[in-house]
Amino acid sequence: MESGMVRPLIAGNWKMNGLSQSCDTIASIASGLATYDDVADCLICPPATLLSKVVEAASGSRLKTGAQDCHASSSGAHTGDIAAEMIADIGGEYVIIGHSERRADHGETSEMVAAKAEAAFRAGLTPIICIGETLEEREAGRTIEVVSSQLAGSIPASAFGKSFVVAYEPVWAIGTGKVASTGQVEEVHDKIREILGERFPGQADETPILYGGSMKPGNAAELLAVENVDGGLIGGASLKAEDFLAIYAACVTQK
Ligand code: PGA
Repeated sequence: MESGMVRPLIAGNWKMNGLSQSCDTIASIASGLATYDDVADCLICPPATLLSKVVEAASGSRLKTGAQDCHASSSGAHTGDIAAEMIADIGGEYVIIGHSERRADHGETSEMVAAKAEAAFRAGLTPIICIGETLEEREAGRTIEVVSSQLAGSIPASAFGKSFVVAYEPVWAIGTGKVASTGQVEEVHDKIREILGERFPGQADETPILYGGSMKPGNAAELLAVENVDGGLIGGASLKAEDFLAIYAACVTQK
């Protein structure tokens, strides 16, 4: 935290989890949010099949909604893909772009990620651009190099400070229960802020930088206290309202 003007964001990534009845969880998160000071944003990105229902379940609350991916084009012959305009059309406000699972499972390059982020801007969505090194890259001492190059390549030309969110997610910490140490998180987040400052002079403090990778109620306060950590991108622990709200509470307490 303490990175100036940024409003913190606690974002849940449900990945390929959730059926219709999961909207009960949304209702619990939405009503639970009202009990905390309104000093941080809260977001759930369900699978695309649920987005419409989730938007409905969250309506009238402070809970924001988004998707987990979009195509770079606005329409066309792309079987199975979803356009950013379609996400906006049903009320989504954010879209996660370039998650490591998509980079690995679908061969997404930073260039493709940048094109998707442009699509998000075109549709009026806020892209959450994900970057992060693998264990092999970390052990080879290449973390800063990898993260810097992913960041440079994934931010599109028309971006400006406030228009997007960055999520640093070390691949080895995602879904593994292994959490990056506060020192490791601080080093990378400081570097990201520095790179943003070079690219967007005077606006670096306007971009929220989230940490993601096994964030849980038990470690959230410590991670969120790290300088230049403006929130979290949470997978597993966002599936339970109680856990997700506990992470939100840890964020609110820091403000
Ligand atoms: P995790 O996932 O919290 O389950 O580690 C984080 C993410 O992949 O966004």
